Amino acid sequence: MSERERWATRIGLILAAAGNAVGLGNFLRFPVQAAQNGGGAFMIPYFIAFLLLGIPLMWVEWAIGRHGGRFHHGHLPGMFDVIWRNPLAKYIGVLGLFVSSIIMIYYCYIESWTLAYSFFSITKTYFGLTDFDSMTGFLKSYQGIQKGYFSSLLPAYIFLLITLLANFYILKRGIARGIELLAKIGMPLLIILAIALAIRVVTLGTPDPVNFPDRNVEEGFAFIWNPNFSMLGDAKIWLAAAGQIFFTLSVGMGTLEAYASYLREEDDIALNGLSTASTNEFVEVFLGGSIAIPVAVAFFGVPATLEIAKGGAFNLGFVSMPLIFQKLPFGDFFGCIWFFLLFIAGITSSVAMVQPLIAFLKEQFKISHNKATTYIGIGTFISVNLVVIFLKYGFLDELDYWAGTFFLVLIGFLEVVIFAWIWGMDKGWKEITSGADIKIPRFFYYVIKYITPFYILAILVYWGITDAIPTLLMENIPAEQIPYRWGARLFMLLVFSGLCFMVYKAWKLNKPEYN
Ligand code: PHE
Repeated sequence: MSERERWATRIGLILAAAGNAVGLGNFLRFPVQAAQNGGGAFMIPYFIAFLLLGIPLMWVEWAIGRHGGRFHHGHLPGMFDVIWRNPLAKYIGVLGLFVSSIIMIYYCYIESWTLAYSFFSITKTYFGLTDFDSMTGFLKSYQGIQKGYFSSLLPAYIFLLITLLANFYILKRGIARGIELLAKIGMPLLIILAIALAIRVVTLGTPDPVNFPDRNVEEGFAFIWNPNFSMLGDAKIWLAAAGQIFFTLSVGMGTLEAYASYLREEDDIALNGLSTASTNEFVEVFLGGSIAIPVAVAFFGVPATLEIAKGGAFNLGFVSMPLIFQKLPFGDFFGCIWFFLLFIAGITSSVAMVQPLIAFLKEQFKISHNKATTYIGIGTFISVNLVVIFLKYGFLDELDYWAGTFFLVLIGFLEVVIFAWIWGMDKGWKEITSGADIKIPRFFYYVIKYITPFYILAILVYWGITDAIPTLLMENIPAEQIPYRWGARLFMLLVFSGLCFMVYKAWKLNKPEYN
């Protein structure tokens, strides 16, 4: 069997894994979640979820991945098949391929907006649109939802095409020369840009002391960090915190496992996994939490910021921020930095979403690397059209709800059960600690075995009781969106069935032998 691709350097690997985790979720999704769910009080369930779900799953996934790589598997169907010799295992693994592919389909589109807005900032395209309505109109016309500044979707397609070409060009270059190189350049740059922006925000003071003496950046930090403890009794907040941890750390989707499959047998995973998780949290909490929300409070005040956050992550990133850049000296420059930083965060994540599928096609169907990348590139471009065209009917939101939220948690649960209970926690612990450069406290043995699965189960049960029926029946969805959202579900079902069929074929074609 041919030699497996490997990471070239350890720092490159850590940066790539951190690049996988650090994404749009850190800069857009996190601040909105925190603002909507009790500000500082959100951080309590958030850190508990980080400790009891995020870190344990991080180690579990690196362990499953390195172990799978030994058997030449870079994808969850194969990895689950190795540790659970049951015909069902590989189909549970399909969920991983499914989730990462679906997320890719809408994530790459949002990523392309960031590139576009970086360009629109430096060229001052949106300068002069100084109120919420006109900036929202600008975004909507870019997205083709209504006529306005842009009269067609052409610019959106151009940036989408550039984004996809960049992604698949990097993927074509492979692990060390593509993904790792991107991370080695991109991650330090991202962190520097984010620190620069955060410093700009912290030193903002009171932007308009004459008209709005009480709108300042201290208020902004107080707003995001002051705990509203009364909200902690609401189970929804615990759910939101766990969901954010899954999404931001990229756990529950098979992408970290794919990255870990390119490790060598004796490589450490304990410290690497921990470094990945801590880098992500540093970027999320310190940098992600210090930019978009505090600056919005400083300029618009607390009530307006709450409204912005209610409008969601796009509202915060693509409406509120461009308005602010117009009020800042060198705003064109800072705007360009902000959106380019989002673009780097996005691309180092989106390449990770595709890698499992590339590995799957190469390993199971013996397709060449170039061909596999090209096929998936074309498939992505075709599928993303659905998101582009049906954006206003909630197509993206429907994909995001299921693939980007619900299934991550479900996969996390199935994965930790397969790992700790079916494969067995003793074997699992040995795998996590072998080659380890740090000593993981024994405490985590019990966390992984008991607490993580029960924690996730509790979340799923609570979801089943409160959210399952209204969500499935789309009770709170505007009527005109319903057919399109059913379309999105049908699309997901087709993708899932297609992947199941491919797994079925692959195992028929050549039954993997493990020895
Ligand atoms: N963790 C990434 C973020 O915070 C998202 C992501 C999802 C990355 C799926 C890889 C796979 O934006």
